[in-house]
Formats: sequence, C-alpha cells, structure tokens
Amino acid sequence: MSYKFTYYGHGTFGLDIQGHKLLIDPFFSDNPATKTKPAELDPDYLLITHGHGDHVGDAVEIIQRTGAKVIANFEVANWLGARGAEIYPQHIGGGHDYPFGYVKLTQAIHGSSMPDGSYGGMPGGFLITTPDDKKIYLAGDTGLFAGMSLIGEEGIHLALLPIGDNFTMGPDDALRAVRLIKPKYAIPAHYNTWDLIAQDPDAWKKRVEAETDTIVHILQPDTSIDF
Ligand code: NI
Ligand code: MN
Repeated sequence: MSYKFTYYGHGTFGLDIQGHKLLIDPFFSDNPATKTKPAELDPDYLLITHGHGDHVGDAVEIIQRTGAKVIANFEVANWLGARGAEIYPQHIGGGHDYPFGYVKLTQAIHGSSMPDGSYGGMPGGFLITTPDDKKIYLAGDTGLFAGMSLIGEEGIHLALLPIGDNFTMGPDDALRAVRLIKPKYAIPAHYNTWDLIAQDPDAWKKRVEAETDTIVHILQPDTSIDF
C-alpha cells in the first residue's frame, strides 16, 4: 500500500490514504512558500495542530466551500464548528478511528491562541496509524520534549519535524528529536517560509543521515512523494 504525501511549504501538508484526502494545517493565502491556491483543493478532512494563524490558515474558506471535516483539539474544533465545520474534537493522548486510519493527538510544546485571540487549547501533533499499520508522526509546532521517545516506542515510519528555530525546534534539537523518535524516514518542515526561520535542509539531512539510521527526504514546496 502506498500513500501520497505533498508538502506545501511551512507546516502545510497533504496526505492521500486510500482515496481519502487529508490536509494538515491549511496555510496558503499568506504562505509565501506555496503557489497552490486553497481553491484548487478539495480535502475530505482538515487536521489542525493548533490555533495559530499560520496553521488555521484558510481553514474557514475551505470548510465552507468543500464541507471538509475537522479533526483537532476540542477548542480548535469548536472554533471551526462555530464557522460551519463538521467536527471531530479530540484531545491529547486520545485517539479515534476514521475511514483512513487511527488518529491520536500528541503533545507539543508551543502556544495555541486562535486568530481572533480566543483560547485554542493545548497545541498538539498527530500520530496517524494507516490501515496497513504504518505510523506517521506529524509533530506540529513544538520544541524538543523527552516524551518524543514514547512516540518513538510505537515504531514510526515517517516523521514530519520542524527545523526552523525561533518558534519551534531548530536543526540541533530536531536532530535530537530524530534520536528519540527513530523514524525510518523524516521530512523537515516549518523553515524558509520567512528569513526568521531560514535553514539549510541539506546540511540537516547530512547530519541526520551521518549520525542516525533515519533517511531524510527534503521536499520542495508543492511537490509530492509516494511512500
Ligand atoms: Ni504556531
Ligand atoms: Mn507555526
């Protein structure tokens, strides 16, 4: 079984699992890294890691146009529910079965205010278990935390990790995260959107592959890989 994974720059990803189209943190209109317009996309589910504007992004427009269902923490889900979304509120440590797999919310060390300043609950990440038992860890915006080793105990196939520094882990801590999570593959994210989070992903890939068994795939924005 293979899955299509698309990177739209920053923290925005698409994931196609057996015909189910997932869109994670749909930040397009104000995202200088992507040429994709949200109107080009027709997702079945939006997965939102936290309330910040660069993650909620174009969610309201996409929901109102496509009817995409929202998977997010209780607070973010209800904020989008009030704007017309069909919602699946979850919370950290809790998982739920969907037609495309099992989704568990994971801890993230970060903030989560909504674009209007209201409370967005605790920020998180997602651990998706696919129908053939592959585990995909989307870390969200986070600093390094020791509990990543518990996530690693689950046996991670693919991990998406921020490397941008300033708002999230930088390259050094993201390398330490790889040591804790031990994914088969890693994809760096949340960098080079703005000068403030400029990083060299090739240098990070070299270090990770020299010092761990993880293989790093660097995706240019608006490109996809099958895995
Ligand atoms: Ni954030
Ligand atoms: Mn962010």
